[in-house]
Amino acid sequence: MEKMIIVNGSPRAAVSNSKKLIEIFKNINSKKFNITEFVCRRDNDKICAEFENTDNVLFVFPLYTDGVPSILLQLFKDIEKAEIKNKPKINVIINCGFMEPFQNDTAVEIVKIFSEQCGFEFGSVLCIGSGEAIMDTPFKLFVNMKIKSFSKAIVKNSKKTFKVTMPITKSMFLKASTSYWLKKGEKFGVSREKMDTMDIEK
Ligand SMILES: Cc1cc2nc3c(=O)[nH]c(=O)nc-3n(C[C@H](O)[C@H](O)[C@H](O)COP(=O)(O)O)c2cc1C
Repeated sequence: MEKMIIVNGSPRAAVSNSKKLIEIFKNINSKKFNITEFVCRRDNDKICAEFENTDNVLFVFPLYTDGVPSILLQLFKDIEKAEIKNKPKINVIINCGFMEPFQNDTAVEIVKIFSEQCGFEFGSVLCIGSGEAIMDTPFKLFVNMKIKSFSKAIVKNSKKTFKVTMPITKSMFLKASTSYWLKKGEKFGVSREKMDTMDIEK
């Protein structure tokens, strides 16, 4: 059985959407791959060591400011520095808060360039839009289906790109997400006006 390492690249790994996506992937693929899961930052040394022994790598991470979270960029630097001799195939699942899966395209390119520079083969991609919300709706089924197709592409090494999001209009998405964030703000005593300012970062 081929080996695979899965890296959760979310800065909030333990409670992340990335974690939920990894669980689905593992349930589908436990008999196809010998999987070891790691968390970015905490496990960087172990990840670099495992790169020498694995056939496949799956990075699962959120989109941060149209790119890759800084903890994952640090891991990429650590891997480059480690001058890995083995050449595993790199696959990615990226989820973003906005509705459109194409928001993730730049982050995909970043991982592609990293793979090329290290001499790794770039495999398949799954871009998920509305990633913050979709897993708590019946549309989770669509994510499951795409993860199945994505898994098949990895097994066949057919290097495909898949995209999925909630099948609703932009205005419905905007209405639902605004109401979600306003309710969340209310819970933590943060008003809409405060959310509209940079003070939200303090
Ligand atoms: C600092 C930060 C930056 C983000 N930048 C983007 C972005 O540029 N585009 C987007 O669609 N979502 C963005 N998001 C939303 C996340 O991608 C989204 O919440 C995702 O579901 C988080 O995944 P995780 O739970 O696996 O960490 C951002 C979130 C944070 C906290």
